[in-house]
This record gives sequence, C-alpha cells and structure tokens, in this order.
Amino acid sequence: MAIGSMWKRCCLAQDRDLICHIKTGFALLLTLPLLLFVITCFYNFSFKPVKHPQTSFNLVNQTQSYNVATEGKKFVWNLLTDHQIIQTVHHHVAHPSNYHFILDEPDKCKQNPFLVLMVPVAPHQVDARNAIRSTWGNESSVQGKAVLTLFLVGLTGGPEAQQQLEEESRQHRDLVQSNFVDSYLNLTIKTLVIMDWLATRCPQAQYSMKVDSDMYLNLENLMNLLLAPNTPRENYITGFLMWDQNVIRNKKSKYYVSEELYPEPKYPTYVLGVGYVFSSDLPKKIIEASKDMKPFNIEDAYVGTCLKRLGIKPSRAPDPSQFQTYMKDSKRHDLSKVITTIARSPKQIIEFWQNVKKTENNR
Ligand SMILES: *[C@@H]1O[C@H](CO)[C@@H](O)[C@H](O)[C@H]1NC(C)=O
Ligand SMILES: *[C@@H]1O[C@H](CO)[C@@H](O)[C@H](O)[C@H]1NC(C)=O
Ligand SMILES: *[C@@H]1O[C@H](CO)[C@@H](O)[C@H](O)[C@H]1NC(C)=O
Repeated sequence: MAIGSMWKRCCLAQDRDLICHIKTGFALLLTLPLLLFVITCFYNFSFKPVKHPQTSFNLVNQTQSYNVATEGKKFVWNLLTDHQIIQTVHHHVAHPSNYHFILDEPDKCKQNPFLVLMVPVAPHQVDARNAIRSTWGNESSVQGKAVLTLFLVGLTGGPEAQQQLEEESRQHRDLVQSNFVDSYLNLTIKTLVIMDWLATRCPQAQYSMKVDSDMYLNLENLMNLLLAPNTPRENYITGFLMWDQNVIRNKKSKYYVSEELYPEPKYPTYVLGVGYVFSSDLPKKIIEASKDMKPFNIEDAYVGTCLKRLGIKPSRAPDPSQFQTYMKDSKRHDLSKVITTIARSPKQIIEFWQNVKKTENNR
C-alpha cells in the first residue's frame, strides 16, 4: 500500500525521472524490513505451539490431541486449525463417547420413573449394593411416584469377577457396566458415564440423583423436596453446596489437581459428590459442556465447572441441614429429618434405615 501510493504519487503525477526512482528505491528499502518484521510477528503469534496441559489420566488414544504437544510432534500441532483443536478436546479421556456399556438395562425406564437414583460403586462392593438393595434401593414407589435405583460400575479385575458380576446382574437387573478402568482417579469418567446413561436411556425421568454407595438416603424427605411447588423442574441441582473451595495443590493429597489440569486457584460453587439431585435436562447439557472442558479427577468439582460454563448455579436446598455428610450423633430423631448422610459401613446403612422405619412406625 505505502509503496504503491508513493509510486503513484511520485511516478505517475510527475514523469519518470531519476529522482523519482531513487525516492521509490529508498522507500522500498525502508518498507521491506518493516514488512518482514510484521510478517515474522504474525507467524510467531499464530503458529506459536499451543502448550496443551498434561493430564493425569492415562489417555485412551495417545496419538490424539494431548500428546501432540510433545517435542517431536510440535510441528503437527502447529498446523492444527482451531476447529481441529476443538475436535480433539471433544475426545478427551473422560468423555462418554469413548466408552460403551457392557451390562445395560435399557428398558428400565419404560416404567417412567419420576426419580432415578444412580449409584457409582466399585465392582467388588457387593455388600454395599446389597445394603442399598435391602433399604432405600428397594423403594420403587415413594408418595405415589416411581423411583428407580441402578448401580454403575467400570471394568472388573478379571473373567471370574466379571462372571460373578453378570450373575448378580441376572439376579437383580440393576447393574450398568461400562468399559473404563474402575479406579478412584477415574471417578470423573464414572460420573460422565452416569450422565450419559441418564441422557440416552432415561430422558423422561423428572429428576435424577447421583448418590454414593456409602450413603443413607431418606427418600420420603427427598420426595417432599422434589414435589414442593417451588422446586424448579429445569436447570436444577442441589445437595451439600461447596463454596469458595481452594484447589488442592499438595501432591500428597488424594484431591491433588495440578495447575496444568485446572489453572484457577478456586473451584466454582459445586455440589458435594456424596449425593446430588438434579433435573433430568442436566445430564445432556453437562455432557455437551464437558466436550470442551479439560477433565480432572475431582468429579464433583468437574461437574461444577461444566455447570458454570452452562451458566447454571447449584441451588441452596430450602433446608441445607437435610444434606448432611458425617453426623456427629446420628440419633433417630435427626435421621428422620435428613435427606442424606454418610454411613460408615454397609451395615450402618441398614441400621440407619431400620431406626428411621421404627420411628415412623411408632408415630
Ligand atoms: C488412535 O486414533 C487413530 C486416528 O483416529 C487411529 O488410527 C488409531 O488406531 C488409534 N489408536 C488407538 C490405540 O486406539
Ligand atoms: C424389598 O421389599 C419387598 C417388600 O416390599 C421385600 O419383599 C423384599 O424382600 C425386599 N428386598 C430386599 C432385597 O430386601
Ligand atoms: C482410567 O480409565 C482409562 C480408560 O479405561 C484407562 O485407560 C486408565 O488407565 C484409567 N486411569 C486410572 C488412573 O485408573
């Protein structure tokens, strides 16, 4: 532009004389380095290697996305377009599209449950499942509303354990199994697979709950909350709210999350993973949001970051004390008021349950 207009001004208006050519030559000499400088800047900016965070997950497909940041492949990474970058993030290890169900109960939702309880549990925790099956998991109707309880497990240790699990599944028809390695660090995968099951197998339910296998759950009280006229039917999630939580940077902690995985110092408000209840529009939305969110191993905080991206704030329960964690003194009187509390063993789930039933029968 600058050179062109100078050439025009100088060489068309006046005739081509020597001075004019000297002037243009001088201008070219000045402009070319400038141009080169600008181009260099542009290239440096747009093709700067995007440093991708290392994840603490073992990646399903090492050839995709995350590893591209390693030295040898920087060039390939540099040439990826934004679109491709988003595509590869879509396939991160926690995304349910990486997994499939080995055991499934796709017809369970034909009963049109009002509430679906999804219990993540390790394959070997038969005692926990049986305690739940004989207590709150055995309630198929609460205040006239259908309730469904299912357990979600990952891969078993071997063929023998798998056989036992399949036997248990035939007996109870309440197991859903997906093909990821079942481990503590993979709880985010488990949660997203739960969300996937709800979104694809049970979108007609009104509410769902992710509830841990060591929880006492009072379904009467939960149903009172869900049937209350003020309880939203969409974009709703409640439980034990976690505000203003610092990300744990102590490498010795089991809650450790690296800055590469989650750079901000605090988590957005989230609902403690022991038990959160949500409207059934959320599973699909959470999975959608998770596509572009780097996974990290704290499942509840991760759900919180997906919710934040969706612009959905966890709701404070009308009586937050109903969502307990550990109760100092779990007397009958208090147990009959709570919605959730942590039990210290499968046996204690049954004790809590029987205590509350006795109180109800004495009324
Ligand atoms: C990883 O993905 C590439 C391309 O999508 C595919 O060719 C390759 O077989 C995959 N590898 C594994 C281990 O799944
Ligand atoms: C579930 O409840 C029914 C009665 O409603 C009872 O007959 C059955 O034994 C219970 N199941 C378990 C596993 O406790
Ligand atoms: C998490 O699950 C994936 C998929 O099954 C597996 O490759 C990985 O090893 C697991 N990670 C841990 C820490 O168990």
